[in-house]
Amino acid sequence: MRVLMIGDVVGKGGRRAVSSLLTDLKSEFSVDFVTLQGENLAAGIGLTVDTVVEMVEAGANVITTGNHVWDKREFIDHLDDPYLPVLRPLNYPPNTPGRGAADDTGPVAVINLIGRVWVGEFDSPFAVVDDLLAGGFGQGKPIVVDFHAEATSEKAALAWHLDGRVAALVGTHTHVPTADSKILPEGTAFVSDLGMVGAVDSILGVNVEGSLNRFLTGYRQRMEPVRSGTMNFNSVLIDIDVSSGLANSIERVDRQIEI
Ligand SMILES: [Fe+2]
Ligand SMILES: [Fe+2]
Repeated sequence: MRVLMIGDVVGKGGRRAVSSLLTDLKSEFSVDFVTLQGENLAAGIGLTVDTVVEMVEAGANVITTGNHVWDKREFIDHLDDPYLPVLRPLNYPPNTPGRGAADDTGPVAVINLIGRVWVGEFDSPFAVVDDLLAGGFGQGKPIVVDFHAEATSEKAALAWHLDGRVAALVGTHTHVPTADSKILPEGTAFVSDLGMVGAVDSILGVNVEGSLNRFLTGYRQRMEPVRSGTMNFNSVLIDIDVSSGLANSIERVDRQIEI
């Protein structure tokens, strides 16, 4: 079984790049299941129903999120909509809307977690995922994890903690793809960060002026996703042995497209 996991999709330019590329990539690599990091889908911050539907129609099976999932307040109620395959990180407090893991959305079970180093105060992703797996999560399906975190050390540590228990753990959030994809000794595929689907001429997908001026002046200025030009499409392809639920291989699938 082959799973394609796509990094943070930033705004309209990112969505258009996904819509332009994903159908062909799915057939080129015989992809069975697609996850997509969607916390930046709507104008770079948060999600809306329309942008989620657009990505599902483009071929995404499950949309994971991160710290920006709350930014479009009208979407919070939709986190419990059974027709929208959207997860929010599992290790928020128990009464938070939405769910952080799903094993009923296709042949692959998906877990979404968020890091604590330089991101925020959340429950321990290590303890929370241990509890979930101890409860029989997955229905025997291969499990993939999107760990939305800043620190490469925290991402690697959680991957080693889960080695042999999930098919893959991939990092998201930095919007910068890393070149460390590998299979850990017990069969879990790992990469520190998927990267993003967003503009090459940008700072993490948003306009250079807005992001740069924030550093030059010390106050927050208007930042908008770059909507056109050359877009990076960053993802990884994971080949999974369904009988063991572990990974045979992981490889980067990175493309560029003019939008
Ligand atoms: Fe992001
Ligand atoms: Fe993030």
